Amino acid sequence: MACRMKGMHADNLQLDAHGRLKHFLAIEGLPRALLTQILDNAERFAPVGDRAVKKVPLLRGKTVANLFFEPSTRTRTTFDLAAKRLSADVLNLNIEASSTKKGESLSDTLRNLEAMQCDMFVVRHQSSGAANFIARQIAPHISVINGGDGRHEHPTQAMLDVFTIRRWKRRFDALTVAIVGDVAHSRVARSEIHALRILGVPEIRVVGPKTLIPAEVESLGVRVFHDLEAGIKGADVVIMLRLQQERMQSALLPSGHEYFREYGLTAARLKLAAKDAIVMHPGPINRGVEIASDIADGAQSVILQQVTFGIAVRMAVMSMVMGTQALGGADAEHD
Ligand code: NCD
Repeated sequence: MACRMKGMHADNLQLDAHGRLKHFLAIEGLPRALLTQILDNAERFAPVGDRAVKKVPLLRGKTVANLFFEPSTRTRTTFDLAAKRLSADVLNLNIEASSTKKGESLSDTLRNLEAMQCDMFVVRHQSSGAANFIARQIAPHISVINGGDGRHEHPTQAMLDVFTIRRWKRRFDALTVAIVGDVAHSRVARSEIHALRILGVPEIRVVGPKTLIPAEVESLGVRVFHDLEAGIKGADVVIMLRLQQERMQSALLPSGHEYFREYGLTAARLKLAAKDAIVMHPGPINRGVEIASDIADGAQSVILQQVTFGIAVRMAVMSMVMGTQALGGADAEHD
């Protein structure tokens, strides 16, 4: 699409003149201090979910539209919960089933949402660059958050992943992180690699079959492994990725069963990682394809904690793009 290249490198479209976050479109190019600020703010939001009243008033009176052009469960529902816990009003638009099906153009859909006086759009789209494109199109007071665009980026997923890593490992500067599986089709992997590099992780590995590791990935500062056992040896964090069959143009793989034999994370293989390694996955997981059930549910798995932390991280990002995180923070009084 026309928006594919333009603005893919999020230049300063996402920062205002004072370097504050205006849109959240991509991790690439953001300063470390800003990523750390998101993590620190998320720490302050995390306890809100444990309260009897899971609400703070920071986005009261704001309207958030969730525009999901592609299916999603976790991302959409945790953005929804994050906005509600910030006291925003939320519109959940299932665009797949609405006006675009009746021939309305994206620009017309956006104009209508502007006319409804929305303050923020959370966008998931099958095309890389879609969130940037929308950020350039819409009225200047509206903020856009990228909930995953094609194979490009999924920045809030990367932030919840590094939040989880920081919770368990405290520091980034001595870690080995292995990202395993379908890197070629993964916006999550791309955003994670940028985030880990910006935060100072010294060893980032990508592990997978040649058909699923993009040729240019080494230029992002990672080490490539085609052998799973070598790739996870000594790793402190093992991030498993789903096989994105829906994005594969042709058969890049033999079968789920054969894939598991070569690249599935099993108890025996996990023993090669550091003793206290954590296992992560952005979800949805395919048991018996990329990960064995006993590992997904095992003591080293933090997969469900990632989901919980995703709410706090999304609250942090949403309040920052609206410029309301300074109102006394998450601990501001209830209504
Ligand atoms: C990821 C996505 O949609 O990019 N999932 C998610 O947001 N939790 C990864 C995936 O679909 O495999």
